[in-house]
Amino acid sequence: MPRPRLILDCDPGHDDAIAILMAAKHGELLAITAVSGNAPLRLTAHNALITTQILGLDTPVYAGAERPLVAPPRHAEFIHGKSGLGGPILPPLTRQLAGHDAVRFIIEAGRRYDDLWVVATGPLTNIALALRQAPDLAARLRGIAIMGGSTSFGNVTSHAEFNIWADPEAAAIVFASGATLLLCGLNLTHQFMISPDTVAQLRALGGVAATFTAELLDFYCAKYAEKFFGKVEGPLHDPCAVMLVTHPELFTCHDRPVAVELTGQLTRGMTVVDERGVKAMEPNNTSVAYGLDAPAALELLLETVQLYA
Ligand code: RIB
Ligand code: CA
Repeated sequence: MPRPRLILDCDPGHDDAIAILMAAKHGELLAITAVSGNAPLRLTAHNALITTQILGLDTPVYAGAERPLVAPPRHAEFIHGKSGLGGPILPPLTRQLAGHDAVRFIIEAGRRYDDLWVVATGPLTNIALALRQAPDLAARLRGIAIMGGSTSFGNVTSHAEFNIWADPEAAAIVFASGATLLLCGLNLTHQFMISPDTVAQLRALGGVAATFTAELLDFYCAKYAEKFFGKVEGPLHDPCAVMLVTHPELFTCHDRPVAVELTGQLTRGMTVVDERGVKAMEPNNTSVAYGLDAPAALELLLETVQLYA
């Protein structure tokens, strides 16, 4: 089966970097578009470039939105560090951006191909801007696979997940766009927990990609322990959105109406998933992932890292 053609819109970010590693091997990765999120745009664009450089990829990287549509810029230094890619010692950057017009690139690519997926693993600012400037994209894109939101708990607040919370107005535009949407929220990504044993398995593979991935995850899992759970382990969020497109057989999904809360004092940035199962007032606009074959996903991660050896 041909590899799905895709653009990865991301905010590297440790798990975004591993999403790049997986997308490059299992998708026809047209380009990476960077957005402000885990770190300011200058850093997320740099981190996307340095990740492709370390992995030996020539995938073009475009810089996109440097701030959300309405909300103030907010970052996730508490997990990803000040640089957005804390942990590994990074080499001097030799690659350069392909452009600063990520939104224009997404629009033009969406009009050039009729089978293009956009995988979004950061705040949805670039995607919302593209859909607002080119509403025809909603029907033209094969779909948008989103790491974001949740059918249950949040992470930055009790009910909001970072990518949606960082730019809820953008997320609301995307969920109301009519595009084909796949969603893997925290309820799904927390089924893909990375433990120190997994990191040791990765490190034992040897080679640049394995060492880079292991160093990223050492830092990431330690930060999760510090911030959330106490146990040294971390949910590998963003690669789930890539696998949702490249390996859908690993997931159990159900169609649900999904909308984004914008005005709730305690719930702003929440993905409101209607699970009544009755003929809901709103259309089932999203295929929401509820189940993951985590052992198979882990095996796929190890196999993919090995492909870079
Ligand atoms: O809430 C998890 C998401 O926020 C992931 O995409 C992570 O990279 C951060 O962007
Ligand atoms: Ca991310």
